[in-house]
Amino acid sequence: MTVNVGLIGLGTVGTGVARVLLDKAYLLEQRIGARVVLSRVCDRHAARARGLGSGARFTTDPAVILRDPQIHLVVELIGGIQPAKRLLLEAMRRGKHVVTANKALLAEAGPELFAAAERYGVDLYFEGSVGGGIPIIKAVREGLIANELNAILGIVNGTSNYILTRMREKDLSFYEALQEARHHGYAERNPTLDVDGHDAAHKLAILTWLGFGTHVPIAKIHTEGIRHISQADIRYATELGYCIKLLAIAKREGSELEVRVHPTLLSTSHLLANVNGVYNAVYVHGDLVGAELFYGRGAGQNPAASSVLADIADVARNLALGIAKRVPSPHPHQRALRLRRMDAIETRYYMRFTVKDEPGVLGTIAGILGRHHISIASVHQKERQAARIAPVVMMTHEAREADMRRALEAIDRLRMIRSKTVVIRTEAPRGR
Ligand code: HSE
Repeated sequence: MTVNVGLIGLGTVGTGVARVLLDKAYLLEQRIGARVVLSRVCDRHAARARGLGSGARFTTDPAVILRDPQIHLVVELIGGIQPAKRLLLEAMRRGKHVVTANKALLAEAGPELFAAAERYGVDLYFEGSVGGGIPIIKAVREGLIANELNAILGIVNGTSNYILTRMREKDLSFYEALQEARHHGYAERNPTLDVDGHDAAHKLAILTWLGFGTHVPIAKIHTEGIRHISQADIRYATELGYCIKLLAIAKREGSELEVRVHPTLLSTSHLLANVNGVYNAVYVHGDLVGAELFYGRGAGQNPAASSVLADIADVARNLALGIAKRVPSPHPHQRALRLRRMDAIETRYYMRFTVKDEPGVLGTIAGILGRHHISIASVHQKERQAARIAPVVMMTHEAREADMRRALEAIDRLRMIRSKTVVIRTEAPRGR
């Protein structure tokens, strides 16, 4: 059988996918048992089709692909919500299978897209949306289908991980490390999606939906980025035996689900602590398998193309066998999981106070923490900086977020506190 592919979007990933389809046509046919042909490609910019040879017909109009009755499979790689959503829905309405790597769209409208796929009896695959070349979607949807998951913890934004790694390795400031990331082509010109945690939140929404059967709207995911992390915090964390990672966290506690993205202190012995540079890793804990770690390149043309090709192969194989819906759609959890309010989470905290170095300061801070039921695990006073100002770093025992917020409001109002206190949550290693 010949499977005709229409590819929309010839950016970095789209160009990579087109090249692999052309260069590895023979290998793919051998492995899949069907011939996969890049039939048409579409992009707003005609120049992007240069270099793809004469194999695929080019158009600037996606409707040409949607209307072509010969095309079995539409691959959407333009990103963003619209027109990607409209194109995917229309492709499915016309009975075409679809593959996308569009994390923002899946995070926002995943259930709606899957409802359409059900309605029209077509397949919707999206391996490229999370973790670049790591086959994490397949692992969670298929490999772990018999598990009840307890936790998914991910380093899923390569740009932020690169920045935090370089800050630690070379004692760079956030902005110096961001410049380096830009220089290497890792960061977007507007780095907000990456460094403010939104990209990680999109990916976490997808993983949460697959892993816990609960679709959490992006607006409900507590999201903090890494802009406020200073060289000092990274140095103090290192001295205390921790590293700082931007972590995407989804955890089930009974019938409640915690879903959040924020910088996190990880003990250097944590499985995720040695995931450095642009690498991604996703740690999954399931009732049957225990802990599993998926690690690999989270961004870049070839790793992302590898994941999109895996989806294309799945659809082509299904078509060759005359089947669809081999992989079940993300299913609701048997028991409804309630989203835990951020105020109600409990964790250990790192705090860095900038204080006027005078008698009684530590006692005052400790008193306020104590009144808010926050127990101090350790205190580290650093050498004074200019003008009798000293950093004080504290680690707490497990405390409630609401208590911590209230305590910090009171502490940051004190005359002896010279700048806003930095607070970073920690994540303890769990059942290896
Ligand atoms: N911008 C993403 C990252 C790559 O830095 O990880 C694509 O998902």
